[in-house]
Amino acid sequence: MNDASSSPLDWYRSAVFYEVMVRSFRDTNGDGYGDLAGMSEKLDYLSWLGIDAVWLPPFFASPLRDGGYDISDYTAVNPLFGTMEQFDALLDGAHARGMKVVIDLVINHTSDQHVWFQESRRDPNGPFGDFYLWSGTNERFENVRIIFTDTEDSNWAWDDERKQYYWHRFFSHQPDLNYDNPAVHEAVFDVVRFWAKKGVDGFRLDAIPYLYVSDEGNGESEPPTHAFIARLRAMLDTEFPGRMLVAEANQLPRQVVEYFGTPDAPECNMAFNFPVMPYIFWALASGETTGLRGTLTELPEIQGGSAWGVFLRNHDELTLEMVTEAERATMYELYAPEPRMKVNVGIRRRLAPLLDNRRDKLEVANALLLCLPGSPFLYYGDEIGMGDNIWLDDRDASRTPMQWDASASGGFSHADPSSFYLPVVTSEGFTTAEVNVEEQRADPDSLLNWTKAILELRHRLGVMGTGSTRVLTTDHPSVLAFVREPNGPGVPVLCAFNFSENAAEVTISGIGPAGARLVNARGGAEVGEVGEDEGMALALPAMSWHWLTVS
Ligand code: NOJ
Ligand code: CA
Repeated sequence: MNDASSSPLDWYRSAVFYEVMVRSFRDTNGDGYGDLAGMSEKLDYLSWLGIDAVWLPPFFASPLRDGGYDISDYTAVNPLFGTMEQFDALLDGAHARGMKVVIDLVINHTSDQHVWFQESRRDPNGPFGDFYLWSGTNERFENVRIIFTDTEDSNWAWDDERKQYYWHRFFSHQPDLNYDNPAVHEAVFDVVRFWAKKGVDGFRLDAIPYLYVSDEGNGESEPPTHAFIARLRAMLDTEFPGRMLVAEANQLPRQVVEYFGTPDAPECNMAFNFPVMPYIFWALASGETTGLRGTLTELPEIQGGSAWGVFLRNHDELTLEMVTEAERATMYELYAPEPRMKVNVGIRRRLAPLLDNRRDKLEVANALLLCLPGSPFLYYGDEIGMGDNIWLDDRDASRTPMQWDASASGGFSHADPSSFYLPVVTSEGFTTAEVNVEEQRADPDSLLNWTKAILELRHRLGVMGTGSTRVLTTDHPSVLAFVREPNGPGVPVLCAFNFSENAAEVTISGIGPAGARLVNARGGAEVGEVGEDEGMALALPAMSWHWLTVS
């Protein structure tokens, strides 16, 4: 079942990932919920598109009060989504197509419906009595911030049964596990082994900075949290080599870099680069590239074998936690003109609506994503420019049914659309009749076929996954340029972006050896020759992107 041996151990460094919530993709049994059988049915589509790995957010038993991130049984499939046999079939189907499957590992907290919590509140002296953090007072850990600012006003909640408070970093129905209890470690290891044995290729470590909290710290990235991750990684490397851990730590890269660990005590293979994302949107709206250039220049070196994960959108709000207060205010002005668009510390919109459904901006955003240092994570539906519904609860705005065809149900299900887990998007410009896979597949000029082509190009060039990055100087404030340089065979690629609404005449310095020839990687037209001073003048159309090979 497990084919990890047939590909290199660091497969994730050159992979393009695709995030899709099972319930959002395709409903095969007509109950209005997307299911595992539907995921299997659509694997051919993902393979046609050029996806190397899918990331499935939680599909486990859950009351679904937080999109499944509230787990009530870690080793059971939610019956709404199908059966364990169907999960096994999905894994086999993906592997047969050379695709990896990454699942979420939500080990900071469980649902309050989990039997561990039920037992913990019932019997303080029983085997699960110390599985969670209980306290007679709600005044401990007062310097720990609140994450879900829209819904929670404390990290403590009162339990009427045990007559104590319990600690939670997210919703109050998600009690945090107590990592000071070694039995919790063993229970978590059992969960990881269960899925690793099945052949799952990697795990996204949800909310990983918050495992430990102490009176001295602020509950984020405390030293024992790192020690635990290192133990987890050591177990995987020994028992299941080639499996990947990706850290969801919404922090600055110089802090996140700790999640890669050290050569002696490696932790995660990958970590998301959160802050680069808002700066991409900033540049697209304002034409200013200072923030983007800054965050790329300051990106710390990471140890061999590690990789960043980069993304434009995901199943959560477009988070603005990592920008300054002033920058956040500007981002809200630019991207959340309607108050309802804001949620927590971020924005609940999808990529295409954020970019005014402008094809030039969608191309620039995706082309940049696909050549940034690291591996890109696409979000389902963005490849066709799907819309959102900001009036849905919480972060459901961008979790609506995938639009496969022009019918009222979008081809998501044969059930009546009124029974779907969430309504299909009906806003102008984004209806199923206007945005769907079937028609875009047939149209050579569609966003979908453009996306497929650029994924092919990325794979062909090779350098984007494992190459290093050198940010260049330009004499135009709206032009960002950097070179991706191979660590091995292959040729360097100059990546240049003009975020201005006007054409730019720009000189880019420090490209590389004088006399090197620049060739457009799309189409092969020769663009010019690097000058004596290793620089070059280029004329870039308004809102445009360029991948030029340097040889
Ligand atoms: C991060 C997940 O991405 C988010 O959707 C979830 O609500 C929280 N972790 C809590 O698990
Ligand atoms: Ca279903």
